[in-house]
Amino acid sequence: PMPIFYGKAVLIDYLKSISTPESTIGFVPTMGALHQGHLSLMQESMANNPITVVSIFINPTQFNNPEDLAKYPRTLEEDLKKIKALNPEIIVYAPAVEDIYEGKPASQAFDFDGLEHQMEGRFRPGHFDGVGTIVKRLFEIVQPTNAYFGEKDFQQLQIVKKMVAKNKMNVNVIGCPIFREPNKLAMSSRNELLSPKEKQEAAIIFETLSKAKEKFENSSAKTVTEWVQKAFENHPTFTLEYFQIADEDTLLPCLRKNKNRKYRAFIAVFVNKIKLIDTISLN
Ligand code: PAJ
Repeated sequence: PMPIFYGKAVLIDYLKSISTPESTIGFVPTMGALHQGHLSLMQESMANNPITVVSIFINPTQFNNPEDLAKYPRTLEEDLKKIKALNPEIIVYAPAVEDIYEGKPASQAFDFDGLEHQMEGRFRPGHFDGVGTIVKRLFEIVQPTNAYFGEKDFQQLQIVKKMVAKNKMNVNVIGCPIFREPNKLAMSSRNELLSPKEKQEAAIIFETLSKAKEKFENSSAKTVTEWVQKAFENHPTFTLEYFQIADEDTLLPCLRKNKNRKYRAFIAVFVNKIKLIDTISLN
């Protein structure tokens, strides 16, 4: 049977009992409502570590919007089935809020050297303090050798790397490619909240990113950004929250192209009240 733990003390004991000096631990933190994107991270971990731990925890401190937290899909039974079908040796940690936070859940304040002030950080105040708090806590509990994060949340990936470096934590943070629907919509737990028609129409997000990438070859970030803003102006279904072309390492907006830097485009759009994000590497 698949090992599943609801409390950190038992999990820690179990990991201690099966670890050897050579056995690396791969770790995939999630908030559940699992899809192929999550499963691809687990596969990557399984391929590279004798032990894989997956956490399923809807972290209240990273939700700046209570409605978003309330609506977030909770599907633990199905999630466990999906993990078991992928590989019954995967160890699951699905704690209650009280196992992670004593008293009222609260975030620690972090300094991520400015990474937290861009994009999601501008529109979701406190979000990355919540992410930093939970990921640090989970790393302390699981003590992974390797931790796998999706490039879909590229800003989160960079922030976790920064957190690990600043706190001198002994974890390799590994970025994994974005898993997409057949229409190229990036897989997301929030896609479950879209109607079939909205899901189909949401192909526009990656189409826009792909065209932006093409345009960026011969135009400035400003020109490309204005083109994207125009494409979403008065759109009947989608509202653009932001489009930003940024340096991959600093996440600062690209004001003037430097051929020695790597750039990435980031987009966030709303469909009704559902927020979807995506990103593409530009060079
Ligand atoms: P969640 O949104 O459940 O995502 C868990 C992991 O799956 C993240 O690393 C995310 O980037 C990755 N992921 C999501 N969609 C993906 C896709 N289409 N392709 C590849 N990877 C994808 O991100 C979180 O949870 C939370 O912030 C968490 C890190 C668990 C902290 O609470």
